[in-house]
Amino acid sequence: MSYVLAIDQGTTSSRAIVFRQDISIAAQAQQEFPQHFPASGWVEHEPEDIWVSTLTTCRAALAQAGLSASDIAAIGITNQRETTVVWDRATGQAVHRAIVWQDRRTAPACAQLKASGHEPMVSAKTGLIVDPYFSGTKVAWILDHVPGARARAERGELLFGTVDCYLLWRLTGGRVHATDATNASRTLLFNIHTGQWDDDLLALLRVPRSMLPEVQDSSHHFGDSEPELFGGAIAIRGIAGDQQAATIGQACFAPGMMKSTYGTGCFALLNTGAVPVKSTHQLLTTIAYQLNGQRTYALEGSIFVAGSAVQWLRDGLHIIAHASETGPLADKSDSLQSVYLVPAFVGLGAPYWNPRVRGALFGLTRNTGPAELAHAALESVCYQTYDLWAAMRADWPDADEASIVLRVDGGMTASDWTMQRLADLLDAPVDRPMIAETTALGAGYLAGLSAGIFPEPQQFADNWRLEHRFKPVMSQATRARKLKGWAAAVRGLLASDD
Ligand code: G3P
Repeated sequence: MSYVLAIDQGTTSSRAIVFRQDISIAAQAQQEFPQHFPASGWVEHEPEDIWVSTLTTCRAALAQAGLSASDIAAIGITNQRETTVVWDRATGQAVHRAIVWQDRRTAPACAQLKASGHEPMVSAKTGLIVDPYFSGTKVAWILDHVPGARARAERGELLFGTVDCYLLWRLTGGRVHATDATNASRTLLFNIHTGQWDDDLLALLRVPRSMLPEVQDSSHHFGDSEPELFGGAIAIRGIAGDQQAATIGQACFAPGMMKSTYGTGCFALLNTGAVPVKSTHQLLTTIAYQLNGQRTYALEGSIFVAGSAVQWLRDGLHIIAHASETGPLADKSDSLQSVYLVPAFVGLGAPYWNPRVRGALFGLTRNTGPAELAHAALESVCYQTYDLWAAMRADWPDADEASIVLRVDGGMTASDWTMQRLADLLDAPVDRPMIAETTALGAGYLAGLSAGIFPEPQQFADNWRLEHRFKPVMSQATRARKLKGWAAAVRGLLASDD
């Protein structure tokens, strides 16, 4: 019984990884599932696809490792955050497709909340801003647009959950409706200072309390899986939103430690310890993890497009066949051209928070071709990280210059080209760890901690291993010129919204 099964339910695929007790990987499986784009800026998932792909990958990973349920000490779940599912308490039927975190359909509702002056109260309680990104307005949208849903919700017949909560409910055969504090902190309904669902927020967003899950520590015995799913019950002992799980997997347990994860989007988190730091630079305050009832907070910068810019090169423009071709192609670009992509495919996240603008290319010439576009796409991810980095440095000015480093993980970090450019633009070291699967590792760690098979955080942190440190080499003059060009491109795009 010394293995942990980590479920990493992401935006475009579901993954399952079996970790051994020494945190090496015994087996893994992954499955993509369909994305639905019913209108401009709308993104949906079929909850059944989320569930089936999760179950399939868990079974595949267990089979690959040659393990049965009795070998698994615990399951940990990590998930795409904010994505909203509403389902029938009695039948388990979702009343609508899941509305994905990237979905912008509630932009008008958010604009109205802001215009009515509610944002300061919402931000003070949640640490978030009023933006369609978060779950609260998505729940209200479902209740208002699915015939009869609001009345059913008010009768206590419907449940709300983020993806972790929905999977937990399915894994436990509908016996457990719970989530952890990190996921709750992304809903716009949760008071991050009291650790409770907040009646003022529920009233403002018109969400009945009876729909909400119980909120627990991130490392906790949430319940046991139905025996028939894996041939025996397995305890579910860890839950955290994927960015928080990556923070844990990167062992960023000390205040001042920072990580950035490159998946569909990019999310940078800075551990601020027991203190919820209020950003004055448009970052979010969020819960990094909750252990033994103690909340640890983080400042977060959220960018909606990172890996999906590379997907666009592959599936939209067809200029690469595989993501790994992007770096080498970018390397061939004409150094005399300054092409900037502002990949606001679904608006802009931190620190601009504009859900209305859409992407733009600047600096095109007659000679601009695939190499320059690949270059611009990869650099756009670095520039956006720079914006977050600058905001974090301004919000957390006490950091010791010499020890500042960014730990990175996620698919795009496999690109040495991108990581070197990132170090150059940040003018700071970028550390890539030995274990690339930090998100799943974080969920597995939380589960293993609760099961008593993984060590306490400090010892776990001591085992973190560096694979490569990218050091800045770009001249200050080049860096300044490039950052100036990026700032002008963003200004140009935002001006189009005036
Ligand atoms: O907040 C959204 C985030 O959790 C999605 O992560 O890895 O699917 O880009 P990812």
